[in-house]
Amino acid sequence: MRTQIGIIGGGPSGLCLARLLSLSGIKSVILERQTRDYVEARIRAGILEQGMVDLMRRAKVSDRLDKEGLVHDGIVLAFDGREERVDMASLTGGKRVTVYGQTELTKDLYDAVLEDENVTVIFSAGDVELSGYLEGSPKLSYTKDGKRSTVECDYIAGCDGYHGASRASVPRGMIREFERVYPFGWLGLLADTPPVHEELIYANHERGFALCSQRSHTRSRYYVQVGLDEKIEDWSDDRFWDEIRARLPAHIAERMVTGPSLEKSIAPLRSFVAEPLRFGTLFLVGDAGHIVPPTGAKGLNLAASDMYYLSTALIAYYNEGRSDLLDRYSEVALRRVWAAVRFSWWFTSITHKFGGDPIERKIQIAELDYLMSSTAGKTTIAENYVGLPFDPSFK
Ligand code: FAD
Ligand code: PHB
Repeated sequence: MRTQIGIIGGGPSGLCLARLLSLSGIKSVILERQTRDYVEARIRAGILEQGMVDLMRRAKVSDRLDKEGLVHDGIVLAFDGREERVDMASLTGGKRVTVYGQTELTKDLYDAVLEDENVTVIFSAGDVELSGYLEGSPKLSYTKDGKRSTVECDYIAGCDGYHGASRASVPRGMIREFERVYPFGWLGLLADTPPVHEELIYANHERGFALCSQRSHTRSRYYVQVGLDEKIEDWSDDRFWDEIRARLPAHIAERMVTGPSLEKSIAPLRSFVAEPLRFGTLFLVGDAGHIVPPTGAKGLNLAASDMYYLSTALIAYYNEGRSDLLDRYSEVALRRVWAAVRFSWWFTSITHKFGGDPIERKIQIAELDYLMSSTAGKTTIAENYVGLPFDPSFK
């Protein structure tokens, strides 16, 4: 089979990229290791920056997002018995975030992509191998139903997440990897209960960090920081509810509605960046190239800027014969990546429990106290949380 863009991974990055390219008449083949049901069921991100919402609109897949997404103007930080609201909209000249689950976004993208004549999706594609991308003759081979097949293409987009095949295929001497693994994870629980508060609450507590998030007016998503040695089987729903209530201000904990979990899982936290993001005709996009701890709600939103830059560059190449934007992709994408890596690391550092040393928490509280007492302090959180702009010179 031959196509223009070979895409590895049918998560949000691969699907949205294929759609953006298709609307300019560019053809792609997506190789996804899992089934559609499996990919759609993965409970992950919940907060979309305006940049991601705009991209979904541009990809003509935003009907449901525009109807069902919940627009939030602010977040609440709870610490030391206080609750402080950061009014993001007023501090950023009207920028807001939208609550819309990655599960829903992925469904909307699959509905569009599977009807799209420019996109072919191959599910359950095993043992994907990349070749020829450093020599200008990129190829993807994969196994499906016991049969090995090949896709020849002009460019490869590695959209296959942190554990995928694309970054792993790059010769070690050509790539530099920066990584920090945090000494804790997040235990998340999803339940059909009304959210405890209309906006998200990020809580710094002496027992550890907690987050109250949501998917809709009737579905809540909660997280508590746990040690890396914790096992999901040891966390009954009751234990989870008791723990999160213990980490929240009493009057909020009292009104929390509990219920059976729809899903419960533990995610490790890491910061990771690969440099560069381009190797010949292979481009890394989204989690394949970088990971941030979820504290700043940035992972999917960083994938959005990669998709925007790469689709813009490929469209300029096919429509105008220009390769200058392809040449700038890695540098421009990485600049926004590092900004989000910094914010996610910093926001994690002031909200989580790192060790038992009491001086650490005192310093965190002093920092939060300072930030909340200063318009500059609140603005720095707000500007980063709603998302830094895409580079306007990239066109
Ligand atoms: P993925 O979603 O990982 O998709 C990669 C795809 O490639 C998968 O479908 C996988 O099956 C496929 N694949 C992998 N290997 C292969 C292979 N060898 N061959 C073929 N296919 C392969 N981000 C936010 O912006 N906001 C949030 O609120 C937020 N919350 C989060 C909460 C949690 C608990 C977690 C874990 C993450 C959160 N994120 C958040 C991050 C966000 O979910 C990711 O950044 C996002 O999924 C990245 O999309 P992607 O398409 O690049 O990668
Ligand atoms: C989520 O709803 O899953 C979520 C929200 C905010 C975050 C991380 C995850 O910072």
